[in-house]
Amino acid sequence: MTSLEHAGEVIRRCRQLAECSEVRGETTRTFLSKPMRDVHSRLAGWMAAAGMTVRVDAAGNLRGVYSAASNAAPTLFIGSHLDTVPNAGPFDGVLGVVLGVAILEMLDGGSLPFNVEVLGFSDEEGVRFGVPFIGSKAFAGSFDSSVLARRDATGLSVSDAIRAYGLDPARLGDAQAASPAIGYIEFHIEQGPVLDDLNAPLAVVDAIVGQTRVDVAMTGMANHAGTTPMQTRRDALAGAAEWITAVEREAAATHGLVATVGRIHAEPGAGNVIPGRCDLSLDVRHADDGVRRTAVEHLAKAARDIASRRKLDVGWEARLDQATVAMDGGLISSLMRAVEEAGFGSRHMCSGAGHDAMIVAARMPAAMLFLRCEKGISHHPSESVREEDVAAALEAGRRFLDVLRQTLHV
Ligand code: HGY
Ligand code: MN
Ligand code: MN
Repeated sequence: MTSLEHAGEVIRRCRQLAECSEVRGETTRTFLSKPMRDVHSRLAGWMAAAGMTVRVDAAGNLRGVYSAASNAAPTLFIGSHLDTVPNAGPFDGVLGVVLGVAILEMLDGGSLPFNVEVLGFSDEEGVRFGVPFIGSKAFAGSFDSSVLARRDATGLSVSDAIRAYGLDPARLGDAQAASPAIGYIEFHIEQGPVLDDLNAPLAVVDAIVGQTRVDVAMTGMANHAGTTPMQTRRDALAGAAEWITAVEREAAATHGLVATVGRIHAEPGAGNVIPGRCDLSLDVRHADDGVRRTAVEHLAKAARDIASRRKLDVGWEARLDQATVAMDGGLISSLMRAVEEAGFGSRHMCSGAGHDAMIVAARMPAAMLFLRCEKGISHHPSESVREEDVAAALEAGRRFLDVLRQTLHV
């Protein structure tokens, strides 16, 4: 098969996996939800057919190992995540896993002087339990066990979800990467417009920008919408609305800053009741951690000021304070060389989206290769990639294995 034919198959598989969903007619797949079993079983079939040994670790990560001849050989990890945001596209995360398997299929059973383990992380988006990176943190050994007690919307804890999947939360330590590791590489759609604007298929990632996530709650008092005078109201949703526009202003006024309120829930949620409580999410990102943290402080103060003027209370619960992470210089050089040798230029760029690579980087050298995605659209069902760009990434991945062979002397 040619690279282009392999690429066609990669895209077909991603679209097939996109049908494994909690919600009919869309792609919504959260941490260890029922459709994840289907994804695991299909991927496990492709992995086994490629000569890999497959298991699911206690964090729900699917892992396929393509073994080297020698037991003492080090391991290259190739991975990304298998969970999705609500109503997602077919490629965010999944593409990196399917592509990893395809690179090994392209070897046609040939041997390597190192092991390659393909990882399908169980949770990167953080949708079900409100904390991202459960899978990659377990792998990197940075999982905070207090997260096991967090509950989803139905009241099930992370531990419950792990047990319900037939796994044992007491064995989470087994999910950690075995050493010696060569490093981790992640293939991922860019999820932004840079490559599409440049008309370029691929870019090597220099760094992944830091992000803050906060759960914000504004509490006032529910009351009758028809009888309560405007000046005596303690309307939590009106306070939240005022604050959301402050979030937008802060980001618009700060170069390189992006800030988003992506979730809002008002209670009691009836048209004729003044909202007594409003829960919101906040997501803030900037390449400079200092700028990001200052912006978050401004936004916390804005929430307090608005609340005090409107006689509301504010809850502020930090969910994530993830620093900007540089990718590994050695792996970047090897990936650059592979991309150049494959004939696809030598672009590099920063990632505005978060990725498992930023978690794994604390444990071992990590690097990423971005693929152009059409019009930069992602976290949306119309997310798409071109077959020729997937072929370019496969070719770069194949050459990356050659570069490692030459440079590692294993
Ligand atoms: O939110 C992010 O940046 C990633 O897509 N999970
Ligand atoms: Mn995503
Ligand atoms: Mn992703």
